Order: sequence, then C-alpha cells, then structure tokens
Amino acid sequence: MDKFDHLLSPTIRKIKASEIRELLKIIGKSKEIISFAGGIPDPKYFPKKELAEIAKEVIEDFGDRALQYSETMGVYECRKAVAEFIYRTKGVKTDPDNVIITTGSQQAIDMIARAFIVPGDKVITESPTYLASLGLFRAQGADVVGIKLDDHGMKTLALEEELKKLKSIDALPKFIYVIPTAQNPSGVTMSLERRKHVMELAGKYDLIVVEDDPYSFFLFDNRAEATPLKYLDKEDRVIYISTASKILAPGIRIGWIMPPKELVRRLELLKQYMDLHSPTLNQYIFARALDKGVVDRHIEVVRRVYKEKRDHMIAGLEKYFPNYTWFSRPIGGLFIFTYIFKEDFDAGALLEKAINEYKVAYVPGKSFHPDGGGANSMRLNFSYPSINEIYEGVRRLAELIKNA
Ligand SMILES: Cc1ncc(COP(=O)(O)O)c(C=O)c1O
Repeated sequence: MDKFDHLLSPTIRKIKASEIRELLKIIGKSKEIISFAGGIPDPKYFPKKELAEIAKEVIEDFGDRALQYSETMGVYECRKAVAEFIYRTKGVKTDPDNVIITTGSQQAIDMIARAFIVPGDKVITESPTYLASLGLFRAQGADVVGIKLDDHGMKTLALEEELKKLKSIDALPKFIYVIPTAQNPSGVTMSLERRKHVMELAGKYDLIVVEDDPYSFFLFDNRAEATPLKYLDKEDRVIYISTASKILAPGIRIGWIMPPKELVRRLELLKQYMDLHSPTLNQYIFARALDKGVVDRHIEVVRRVYKEKRDHMIAGLEKYFPNYTWFSRPIGGLFIFTYIFKEDFDAGALLEKAINEYKVAYVPGKSFHPDGGGANSMRLNFSYPSINEIYEGVRRLAELIKNA
C-alpha cells in the first residue's frame, strides 16, 4: 500500500495500471519491434500546413475570443459546424444548441458515466468493448454485462434475453453502450437489422442508448449498413458521441456529444464542474477546418491510406495465419481483432515472449471482455505500421501462434 492510499476515494483506488500497459511501454524504445499495439493515427498524414495556417488566422482574426474563456456548451461556431457536418455526413438533423463540445469523446463517456451510474448499476456493452469505457464504467461502480458480437455486431437476440432476465430481477440498466460502426476493438459493424432491434428494445425497456461513433466517417466499403442509431432514433433516447481525433487529429482533443433534448442542460452543468469548457482556441480551429473543407479532404486521405493498410493486413493474415484462427474484416477503423482457437492459448501470457523473442507486439484481448473471457484473442492495429511492417509483423505473429 502506498503512502496516501488510505486517503484515496474508492473510485480512484479501483483504477489500476495494467501489467500489459507497462509491458507495452517498452516497445516504443526498440526499433526492431513491430508494434500492432497502438491505437493511433499515422502522424505522417496530419494536415499540418493547413492547420498551421488556420491556427494563425484564428489567433490573428479573432484572438480576443479564441484565447478567452468561453461557454461550457462550446463556442457557437464550433457547435454549428459540427451540427452541419453531422447533417451532411449522416443525415441527422440537430440544432447547434443540442451539441456540447467536449474535451475528446473520452470526456463525453466520462460525463455519461458520472451522470447515470451509481454503484451496483448494470451497464450493457458489447463484448469485447472499448477498454477505457469499460474501465470508466467500472470505476464508477457499474457491473458491466457484455453481449457477444459476431460478424454482424452485437447479438441482439442475446441482448433481448439479457434484458428480459435483468427486468425479472429488477436490475435493468439505465443505458446500453455501443460502438456500432467499425467497433473498437473488434472492427465489426452492426447490421441495419440489429440496429433497428437495439432501438426497439431500448424503447420497450425505456433505456438510453449511448452510441460512440469515432470511426464511421472513413469507411472503406459497404457503407450502407452504417446508418447511425441516432438517425433511427424516433423517441429521442440516443446519446450520440463522436470526435475530431480520427478525422483530423487527436491532439486537439475536441469531441462532441449530442444528447436527447432533455439531457442537454444537465450535461452542460456537469461539464461546467469538470473543466468549465473545452479549449476555446481548438474549437475555433476545428470549426474552421470543417468550414474550409480540411476535415473532408483529410477524411479522404485516411480512408485511402487505412483501406490500403487494412487490405494488406488481411492479405498477410490469410497468407500466414493458421486455419484455427478467426479474424475480423473491418469496413473502417484502425483495428483487426483475432481469436486463436488453440487449447490454452493465452495472448496475455505470451506477450512478453512476443516482444522479446519474436519482436512483435499486440494488445491481448482479455481486458476488452467484460466477462473476463477472451484470453485467446488479440487486437491488431493497422493504421500506424508501414505496409512492409504489416506483412513481417503478421508473419512473426503466425510463428508465435504456431509455436505456442
Ligand atoms: C470507441 C472509442 N471511443 C472513444 C475514444 C476516445 O477518443 P478521443 O477522446 O480521442 O475522442 C476512442 C479512442 O480511441 C475509441 O476508440
């Protein structure tokens, strides 16, 4: 026990650095290791010149406002640009007064966790799901129930069964958290039929649906499936969250949340205590980048680059991986997920060996699974490594798997 541990709140005491994270820290230090462990965009493609010009313009043209404190909801120009962007790309009509600009979409998830969860509450997610959401919900005291995925996203018949069961013991969740398109970590996309089913169940059991959508703006193919739940939302019960991180740059830390009307004011007040507002300057920069078409052009670049990398990773997996493995074929995002159906295969236990002997790194899949399963799975990132590294890294991984 560390010196001040007895003074810490139960929430912060629940947050533990994983051993895996510690292990992965070392990989940045060696050039020999091919890493599929990251979850970050390829910095080579950030539109640096355009952003430098926009930053200069914003400070010179209206620095008095851009460098000043601003509204908790976000500066109007940014909310308006986001509302227009979402209407243009998703067909979802939203008043800028129903958009709250957040500090990354991570803050939006944090706001939802704080706004709804009391210790002991059930929260339903996909299994596997985004690690930082799982951690946040648990830190807030939630008992997270994972619903398995297949190639068509969350199995909504299983969701229906689970909701029936939870209702019978008076333990319905307040919300269901889903990443329907190019899900992190699995890479799968929920079918339109299942999206409709989720909305039907949410209506039947009077639940909120949290739709986390960082990846749907740069889909590689088969885009028809990816109708947002927010678009299907006839009863105003979807909290839609998204981010500038993958369509422009994560370093500007701009995200947004579009809640049902009745929740806007509540969430605004909550955010006020969290950080007063998200960085004013970055909001102006993002708004201008949207208005000037920089975001749209960047989306086309990442769509092309990541599609190519995804194709190469799939080709590598088809060539090298043994036939007792399954891997996702994502239509977007940054990740491919794989399960290895070999007895006692434990990707977490093998990671040290993978890094030290095979010089390849991945994120073991277990920690993405709310029920603690998934020891035989790994998340592989294809956005960051080069094409040559993708092939060589997959070849090394296949060797590790065969020799395990
Ligand atoms: C599903 C999902 N939600 C939220 C986030 C958080 O992103 P940010 O805070 O950069 O917007 C990520 C980041 O990778 C993610 O994959």
